[in-house]
Amino acid sequence: MTQDHHEEEPHGKTVRRWLYAGLGAVVLLAGGTAVVRTGAVPRALGLAQAPGATQEADARKTRVRETFEEDIARLGPDGVELASLSIPTDAKGYFAPPLESEMPDGEDGASIRRGRDIFLNPGANATDYVGNALACANCHLNAGRLANAAPMWAASGVYPKYRSKNDQINTMEDRITGCFTYSMNAQDGPTGGPPPQGDPIYKDVESYIHWLATGAPNRVDLPGAGYPALDEPAMAYDETRAKATFDENCSVCHGSDGQGRQDQNGRYAFPPLWGPHSYNGGAGMSRVSTAAGFIYANMPIGKPYSLTEQEAWDVAGYINAQDRPIDPRKVTDADAPVAPAGPPSASGTGTVVPAN
Ligand code: HEC
Ligand code: HEC
Repeated sequence: MTQDHHEEEPHGKTVRRWLYAGLGAVVLLAGGTAVVRTGAVPRALGLAQAPGATQEADARKTRVRETFEEDIARLGPDGVELASLSIPTDAKGYFAPPLESEMPDGEDGASIRRGRDIFLNPGANATDYVGNALACANCHLNAGRLANAAPMWAASGVYPKYRSKNDQINTMEDRITGCFTYSMNAQDGPTGGPPPQGDPIYKDVESYIHWLATGAPNRVDLPGAGYPALDEPAMAYDETRAKATFDENCSVCHGSDGQGRQDQNGRYAFPPLWGPHSYNGGAGMSRVSTAAGFIYANMPIGKPYSLTEQEAWDVAGYINAQDRPIDPRKVTDADAPVAPAGPPSASGTGTVVPAN
């Protein structure tokens, strides 16, 4: 840039920044898609990695993140160029969130840790607002870290955002309220509802979520966000076929009655899939297509992508055809806590669009 164009520099810089950001996003997306398409994810889900290799990979991620943090501290005309910043990724090319050992000290760290504890065990750490036996981490696996299991690092940078489901701008707090209301079935909890606006629970959970995204680009739809979207199933739902698939692949952990399994202390080792202690009829997981994507990429646990897409659709239909707490938006009679089981469909369980 010459002296003559000096006055245009801010504009030029902005454009350049956007170009770099756009390019970065394209590279990330292309990489992520390629990884998914080639089936590298199923083969590689880290299960077979030698402990030494894991340590080395962790050290590399930590190093990249440290460099990143040093760089942003030196960002500016005489320091580091924005475009030279690197993003920590894992072996499959997904964004790599920081390790527990990288949590900061002080007040920020304390809030992050409280948020993590709520995320892992809301029944104990956000008791007043939980009406079932689930935990956030039951559906957002590996404490909200796992790609294709609606990881929190991918959500952090995209809120506030407009959602057609409730036709308004949703803040991260709104989004978490949704998961308390439906996924955690707050209506059957001690206070009968989600944490009130501004509650410290939101601050702590948001601190944790935001920390998981350390080093992630902002306002970018990252590969591995949400659950994978499957193509429509080839075969129509068939209860006999679906039940057989469920009995063969799921009941060993979740029970043939779907009620999960508790250890001697009454804590759920395997969470319930339906019934009074599961998510309610307004939850995102009660939408068959969402559950199918989650199951395909994540269940049986330890054997991701082992079911065919059809099998994932079938068991998703099966679990969502069973009774569960009713969608709170449908409750007209307070004494009717359980929704009647409806026929499963690809688009949802009823006329009301699931809200989370
Ligand atoms: C029964 C499963 C389940 C439980 C339990 C659950 N969620 Fe979710 N959550 C979902 C689903 C499904 C979505 C939507 C994911 C999608 O479609 O991409 C979601 C989305 C989210 C998002 C937005 C993700 C994004 O990429 O936009 C956040 C944030 C979130 N949940 C936080 C929480 C928190 C915090 C808790 C615990 C208080 C929790 N969830 C409990 C199923 C669950
Ligand atoms: C080897 C044991 C195991 C098997 C088999 C298994 N799951 Fe899971 N499932 C789990 C565990 C453990 C979690 C909670 C994950 C966590 O907290 O990290 C879970 C969570 C879930 C969830 C979200 C939480 C909830 O309760 O709604 C659903 C849905 C689910 N499994 C469905 C299935 C389906 C369908 C199958 C069969 C295809 C299946 N699982 C097979 C262990 C298993």
